Amino acid sequence: MTDRPETEAVIAGRDDSRSLSPAVWPSTVWSSSGLDATNANATALRSDEFYARYANPTVGQFERAVAKLEGAESAVAFGSGMGALASVILTFCGSGSHIVAQDSLYGGTYSFLDGPCRRFGIDVTFVDAKTPGAFAAAVVPGKTMLVIAETPSNPLLDIVDLNELAAITGPFTLVDSTLGTPLGQQPLQHGVDLVMHSATKGIGGHNDAMIGVIAGEKDLIDAVWQYGVLHGASASPYDAHNALRGIKTLEVRTSRQASTALSLATTLSKHPAVSTVHYPLLDSHPQYDLARRQMRQGGSVLSFEVRGGMATARTVIDALSLARPATSFGGPETLVCHPATSTHVGMPADLLARIGVNDSLIRVSVGLEHHEDILNDLVKTLS
Ligand SMILES: Cc1ncc(COP(=O)(O)O)c(C=O)c1O
Repeated sequence: MTDRPETEAVIAGRDDSRSLSPAVWPSTVWSSSGLDATNANATALRSDEFYARYANPTVGQFERAVAKLEGAESAVAFGSGMGALASVILTFCGSGSHIVAQDSLYGGTYSFLDGPCRRFGIDVTFVDAKTPGAFAAAVVPGKTMLVIAETPSNPLLDIVDLNELAAITGPFTLVDSTLGTPLGQQPLQHGVDLVMHSATKGIGGHNDAMIGVIAGEKDLIDAVWQYGVLHGASASPYDAHNALRGIKTLEVRTSRQASTALSLATTLSKHPAVSTVHYPLLDSHPQYDLARRQMRQGGSVLSFEVRGGMATARTVIDALSLARPATSFGGPETLVCHPATSTHVGMPADLLARIGVNDSLIRVSVGLEHHEDILNDLVKTLS
């Protein structure tokens, strides 16, 4: 056996069955041998073969696969990345608790923290994660329950220092590693407490699975599971099946996407119509050295700013022929989106301006098409 990621991705989560494709278990409920057996299932932790909101064998295989790839003791899946995020926050926080989160992150995460969390009496402090020590400085001892980071961040590809995050004592640290994927970085190996993914993106990888996952120490994951059973954002076995299929090819897909993304970023950074390019492993990225230290691959997402603001951004997005306007990422097709008017439209204008999500910014999810075709499409449109 080997620990090489190429091999791990193919075999992770596999059970003892001789079927090379995992079975999809559609059942929502399992019968038992009688009252005592049902009672045992109703009171046990993570009862298998009981009721699908508690556990499902196909979802379980997906959870074991992600735990393996992240080097985690355990993992628990949810019906989406947001379902995972909401569940982990509501497991550890309640009225009177405090969260420290970075200000530059996915718009849905921001909206959940700034909306429902505040409404439930959970105080949130947003910090500029690029400032060293900013997370630790905002922690209120005895009150801060969670420190939430997203690295690389969506859509600006800011990098959070995982070692610095792991050194924070007191609250649990949670990293949204969706843009990194488990093959690009492993936050838990730096000492972070919990890692989450919108597996709807790179892990699933085919735009046909809506699923989220949290991995970490067994005790923490059991606590998230216990809350999650009541929250009810359970993962579907069909999505888990599609995501397991995605994991088998994760290494070849992400390697190819990352290499195309780097060559695209390099070309765009020299293009006269482009003022700035954001990509972690582009040597002009302000946190390039940090990204190189903690990332094995730079990921499939880059963003760039066009000269000419909104008018040019609209012209470019509307004129592309291979790349399609769509708001997800990590799949086979190259996609583009305008974060200020889509994924981040719910964030206040002054915050968007401060973090740098401006009208000129276009996000690209680099797909699996030939790199020259993706490049030609963009360069032709920009010229
Ligand atoms: C970084 C990040 N985290 C979480 C999410 C939410 O994931 P989902 O759409 O699976 O709920 C997204 C969605 O785009 C995202 O980009």
